[in-house]
Amino acid sequence: MKHLIDPMDLSKQETDEIISLAQDIIAHRERYQGSMSHRKLATLFYEPSTRTRLSFTAAMMELGGNVLGFSDAKSSSVSKGETVQDTVRVVGCFADVIAMRHYIEGAQLYATEVSRVPIINAGDGSHSHPTQTLTDLLTIQRELGHIDGITIGFCGDLRFGRTVHSLIKALSRYKDIKVILIAPQELKLPDYIKRDVCERTGIPYREVETMEEVMPELDVLYMTRVQKERFLDEDEFDRVKDSFVLDAARMALAKEKMAVLHPLPRVNEILTEVDDDPRAAYFRQVENGKFVREALIVKLHEWKDDPEHGMPSHDYPVYDDTLRCTNSKCICNNERAPHKFRRGDDGVLRCWYCDSKVK
Ligand code: CP
Repeated sequence: MKHLIDPMDLSKQETDEIISLAQDIIAHRERYQGSMSHRKLATLFYEPSTRTRLSFTAAMMELGGNVLGFSDAKSSSVSKGETVQDTVRVVGCFADVIAMRHYIEGAQLYATEVSRVPIINAGDGSHSHPTQTLTDLLTIQRELGHIDGITIGFCGDLRFGRTVHSLIKALSRYKDIKVILIAPQELKLPDYIKRDVCERTGIPYREVETMEEVMPELDVLYMTRVQKERFLDEDEFDRVKDSFVLDAARMALAKEKMAVLHPLPRVNEILTEVDDDPRAAYFRQVENGKFVREALIVKLHEWKDDPEHGMPSHDYPVYDDTLRCTNSKCICNNERAPHKFRRGDDGVLRCWYCDSKVK
């Protein structure tokens, strides 16, 4: 069965098929209405959301299907202590596909171990957000007409920004991508993404400390919010929260044809004076999120029983009673998920669920 937990669960060809189906849905919406009639999507959101949950809901409604679920886990039996695995076993009795957001990293991967319906990761902690990645790829394709060959600047919270981590992974499969990382010291991209993704796949990247010095090079500027909810230390958040602000003066330094993306919500990092600039693509990006989720729902249904579209074969897990994942936000430190690991090509052991390096 095909789940979508990490962008790399989709092959490049499957990713391209989803992007191209989304474009066909945009061009011929009427052809797809009713294609999911009598099917049900469950949205299980343990963490707040506007775009992801509502775009999944709108996508399923456009396809003629129905939606059930919760937007606040406290209103469900989770508040009585029901585990993630038991919750998906139960919801799988009612729904054909589950989109789940969780503040615990690896929760959705753990859920796939018992689910009888496809699970879509709608964001797990700071780890991954693959449907935002599909949205971003579709937006770049529509704004620029191509994904290959772009220079993309990621700006803001690159440390906790799950959308950034997922998009860099997905871009590693395209040709001639250049990445520029614009972040304060405290919010730099984690080493494992730099090493395991950029260096291993040969994406050139460089780190800079001002937007101004790179604006003229960029085809895409990917802005992100500094996420208060991910900080354990409020003083640290206060120090970095307004590090980078995009305004009309900085936009004046950019190419005539470029695109500003932001997964949203924004706080202070893009002034509203930028919104009317034709290069500001972030609200068009929101609508693309609905179309790409329609395409994903259709494709996961089509691939459900097709052995050619299973999950990619991962390495066998490594079990070692002397090792523990030390990420307090990982599922194996929050539920009874086993501490298990995968060994990368570099020989480093990482948590099976959250990718944290084992110390
Ligand atoms: N982009 C995104 O994930 O937005 P929400 O948190 O509103 O779903």
